[in-house]
Amino acid sequence: MRFGYFDDRKREYVISTPRTPLPWINYLGSESFFTLCSNTAGGYSFYRDARLRRLTRYRYNNSPLDQEGFRFYIKEGDTVWNPGWQPVQTELDSYCCRHGLGYTVIEGCKNDIRARQEMFVPVKDDCLLVRLTVSNEAGGAKRVSVFPYIEFCLWDAVDDSSNFQRNWSTGEVEVKGSAIYHKTEYRERRDHYAVFWSGREPDGFDTSRDAFIGVYGSPARPEAVFGSGCTSSTAHGWQPVAAQQFDLDLDPGEDVSILFGLGYIENPQDEKWEAPGIINKSRAEAMIARYADDAAFDSALAVLKADWERLLSGFSVSSGKEKLDRMVNIWNQYQCMVTFNMSRSASYFESGMGRGMGFRDSCQDLLGFVHMIPERARERILDIAATQFPDGSAYHQYQPLTKKGNLAVGSGFNDDPLWLIAGTDAYLRETGDFSILDEQVPFDNDETLSQPLSEHLRRSFRFTAEHLGPHGLPLIGRADWNDCLNLNCFSEHPGESFQTTGPNEGPVAESVFIGGMFVKYGKAWAEICRRLGRPEEASEAEKAVAAVEAAVLDAGWDGKWFRRAYDAFGNVVGGSACEEGKIFIEPQGMCVMAGIGKAGGQAEAALESVKELLDTKYGIVLQQPAYTRYRLELGEISSYPPGYKENAGIFCHNNPWIVCAEAELGHGDRAFQVYARTAPAFIEDISEIHRTEPYVYSQMIAGKDAATFGEAKNSWLTGTAAWTFLSISQAILGIKPALDGLVIDPCIPADMKGFTAVRRFRGATYRISVENPRGVQKGVKELRVNGRVVEGCLIPPAEPGSTADVVAVMG
Ligand code: GLC
Ligand code: GLC
Repeated sequence: MRFGYFDDRKREYVISTPRTPLPWINYLGSESFFTLCSNTAGGYSFYRDARLRRLTRYRYNNSPLDQEGFRFYIKEGDTVWNPGWQPVQTELDSYCCRHGLGYTVIEGCKNDIRARQEMFVPVKDDCLLVRLTVSNEAGGAKRVSVFPYIEFCLWDAVDDSSNFQRNWSTGEVEVKGSAIYHKTEYRERRDHYAVFWSGREPDGFDTSRDAFIGVYGSPARPEAVFGSGCTSSTAHGWQPVAAQQFDLDLDPGEDVSILFGLGYIENPQDEKWEAPGIINKSRAEAMIARYADDAAFDSALAVLKADWERLLSGFSVSSGKEKLDRMVNIWNQYQCMVTFNMSRSASYFESGMGRGMGFRDSCQDLLGFVHMIPERARERILDIAATQFPDGSAYHQYQPLTKKGNLAVGSGFNDDPLWLIAGTDAYLRETGDFSILDEQVPFDNDETLSQPLSEHLRRSFRFTAEHLGPHGLPLIGRADWNDCLNLNCFSEHPGESFQTTGPNEGPVAESVFIGGMFVKYGKAWAEICRRLGRPEEASEAEKAVAAVEAAVLDAGWDGKWFRRAYDAFGNVVGGSACEEGKIFIEPQGMCVMAGIGKAGGQAEAALESVKELLDTKYGIVLQQPAYTRYRLELGEISSYPPGYKENAGIFCHNNPWIVCAEAELGHGDRAFQVYARTAPAFIEDISEIHRTEPYVYSQMIAGKDAATFGEAKNSWLTGTAAWTFLSISQAILGIKPALDGLVIDPCIPADMKGFTAVRRFRGATYRISVENPRGVQKGVKELRVNGRVVEGCLIPPAEPGSTADVVAVMG
């Protein structure tokens, strides 16, 4: 069942009922100011950091759900409604929500009044812009009152939701003209405030929640709206809000539009005040003036749309498969931008208060983002590297605002260091910009410990090389990619962190998965060394890689698949002799991607086993059989009921590893089958089962052991975005950036007769046409660039600014 449809021409998903199975959201903002916006206008705003600079409040696990947002109440006589249905839930005569790239438009109709709410965050500005257009479609005149409403957050979202003894006394606002200023804590150490404004003089306002909503009222029934209007209240402590009232007389056929904004303003210390106690509003007033009329609103929206046009023009495909084109050309790349911006911090599942930026997560996000804005990828790599410890290990997370490592979670996730090589390698392939390796980057944010980025990569590599266990496999530490495989933790008490309980140093549990990573990214590091003119270091690295590869094929091989790990007692995890958890997906994907066992047949066998033992109609589950009881020696993985999350859920992130692995072996049919099973546009028809947005990937789909098989959770912020983009663009369509140019080597279904693609690469544009006359799955027989035959699959970089016509004939 569907709840909307794709409008590919406008690059929108159009939702036709407010009663979606869950709120279906969009992200507004591309650099520093962000708003999450659901299909009913629920959501919240923040500046850079959803924990430390939260502008508006959100209650995640509320019932009823999704009450907070940027709301308009429309009142005509006794009828009160919202253009997006929520929170009053008055039945609408018509409803539609269009989520586009960086903007959302929600339109509702009731009793011949149409209200259209358009929202976006302009490029390079720190505000949300909202336009409400109210149209009278009746034959006679109408009188309606319109009330916009938001609830401020007192900046630090954790404190805001826990420290009431203090913060119910700190709230402060100022009202000037049609603007409401939220200035809590500005009197002391903050140099920033929020401003809510409207482009038209209101007929009333409120800034106290108790006055507008009522102490015992609710957003579904604000007392001011249902009673006799706003009362010009001023918030002193308690809960500051911004609400206004506009009384509109509309002639038949008349439209009235009002512009609104919610901005974030920072003032230099010596310019904080205009007069004692009165904040300096000049920057806010300049912001308001920038968007003073419809023309300014429209042109800022046009700039945003042009920006997305440009961003998406870096990679597009025309395959004759509508759903594939839609994913590749629009939604997958869009999600990659969002995951790059947010890491795993703020969504409708990630509260923005828990995790900041993940070291491994952000490194992987680069893989799907780097072709869009390489300069931002460069900056991000340097930021991440600056949190690395001098011994090569890494803070697992850091806060986006401070860019400092998070002490609470600390380090010891032994896959982390290698992801820095993966992210940097992707950047080098995309840009050829080796100068990044010379950048001086601190360790642990300590400038006195600065070293070139290349030294950071060296230490990443060494950290793994020097932390091997009894079988010659890398030590797992607190966990590897699978945060829930906590082999050294032994947590027995509720409330303890599964990941950080138990010793960090000393234990001997090993990871076959990190072994695979070490082979894959260790080879990349060796190649980088060679380019840096360090052949000896390159061969040393290759020797270390070969030793781990041998260990993986020996202690890591179970006979029909790769084992997952060795626990702290030296017992196999993920082997046929295990009672449960006999086979895991991660090492099959990673080891085959690394090329391990390709010559000896183990790679083929491993992927066969995945097909036989882990496949389901909704995707490949993480492991089988699911753990049915808590196992102290394995940790969090066995804490989940069977079929959920890492305990045999379909963890979408590692399905594309299998896609890449299948393509590595030339299996185009199977690669595409795996790709299509989890690709959102391909499963739009089962939205009532899947429940999350049909235009983006979710982290997890409940596996076959779960009662809710096929139900997704944790939409938007997942490494799935980057890895699926990599798997479809590089492994299946076969357009791969390499250090020396662009490789064209598709691995497609036999029935796919070819495709065309446009790829921007190092400033040049490649118009690529792939032909598959003989219906093969892999193998380029002839490659022509601008009519000239090229040997092999590699096209050397074209002149920046030029266009290259590429024809690849498979067969
Ligand atoms: C979550 C984490 C990611 C981890 C994965 C598997 O998605 O963000 O870092 O690799 O879970 O546990
Ligand atoms: C839990 C989740 C995992 C996530 C981790 C983050 O372990 O299952 O997916 O990566 O928390 O700390």
